Amino acid sequence: LQPSSTQQGGSALQMGICRAKGSSPGFKVALLGASGGIGQPLALLLKMNPHISVLHLYDVVNTPGVTADLSHTDTSAVVRGFVGKDQLEPALVGMELVIIPAGVPRKPGMTRDDLFNINAGIVRTLCEGVAKCCPKAVVHVISNPVNSTVPIAAEVFKKAGTYDPRRLMGVTTLDVVRANTFVAEVLGLDPAIVKVPVIGGHAGITILPILSQVTPPSSFTKDEVEYLTNRIQNGGTEVVEAKAGAGSATLSMAFAAAKFADATLRALKGEAGIVECAFVASQVTELPFFASKVLLGRNGIDEILPLGPLNEYEREGLIKLKGELKASIDKGLAFAAK
Ligand code: NAI
Repeated sequence: LQPSSTQQGGSALQMGICRAKGSSPGFKVALLGASGGIGQPLALLLKMNPHISVLHLYDVVNTPGVTADLSHTDTSAVVRGFVGKDQLEPALVGMELVIIPAGVPRKPGMTRDDLFNINAGIVRTLCEGVAKCCPKAVVHVISNPVNSTVPIAAEVFKKAGTYDPRRLMGVTTLDVVRANTFVAEVLGLDPAIVKVPVIGGHAGITILPILSQVTPPSSFTKDEVEYLTNRIQNGGTEVVEAKAGAGSATLSMAFAAAKFADATLRALKGEAGIVECAFVASQVTELPFFASKVLLGRNGIDEILPLGPLNEYEREGLIKLKGELKASIDKGLAFAAK
């Protein structure tokens, strides 16, 4: 199967008039769900990333157009489009990082769990493709409910005999990006210098910002803590309601996913000391998956960092979130076992 052309409408390559180009060093990255609300701006941001030499865009619709459009931007990454189930495998062969924002988003009044029935099957199918075609790739799962889709992905890889927990990450960067923004606003600081660890999971009360560990070190009043915790936990719903039926966070999610992809690729390349929060297979609590700070390295996750000291408010939040998080993890595991 041929991928849809990089340069529609008569490329130099198609016409046999292009000169040989040295292959540029960089990673091969596949984006699954590339035509969607997140997929399109994320594709643009990835095309601008200097660590990426090949970018494969896969979706069940519209990738030829997205690919033709993006291929005219003058950055060095080569873009190829793949459309429909039959092209999933060629989209994945040889890929080193696979990013998955495929699936349906929330509408007002829906929880992330309401997406389970559709998105669980999509993530399972796509991960079966990853296990077959690029079993060593690092996988970033964006599709919601992340608290369930990451356990599903893990089970698919286990069944295929390709599971490496260091290489599977649920993307919770948007929670961190929101936390940095909202905390910076309260403190009157530039968000670029604020860092807030966010632990737990990626839905409602399972999203737990650790304000006692903010850098630069800052103290907050009780009202500020409550305002910030609520706003960070409900940031996704704030966007869903403002979009009034037209989808959920896409631009901020693409920004966050691009930031996380860049951090992962720099670490894979050997840059030391890169720490990000992600939802991963974990032993920091009794739950099998948990979001916390992880040290990224040449093999994906090098180390899961301890939670560090929590204050009383955060300890209570941690106790409260565990029941809901466990139920979401178990739901994913039960689906994968069927
Ligand atoms: P969207 O509906 O705009 O785009 C989804 C894309 O996935 C569409 O282009 C669709 O054709 C494609 N798709 C559907 N089935 C597919 C399959 N089997 N294979 C490949 N592609 C397929 O949705 P949007 O806004 O881009 O959101 C995507 C997902 O990301 C949703 O599940 C949403 O809940 C989640 N999300 C996650 C966040 C996070 O922080 N992890 C934040 C925001 C959204």
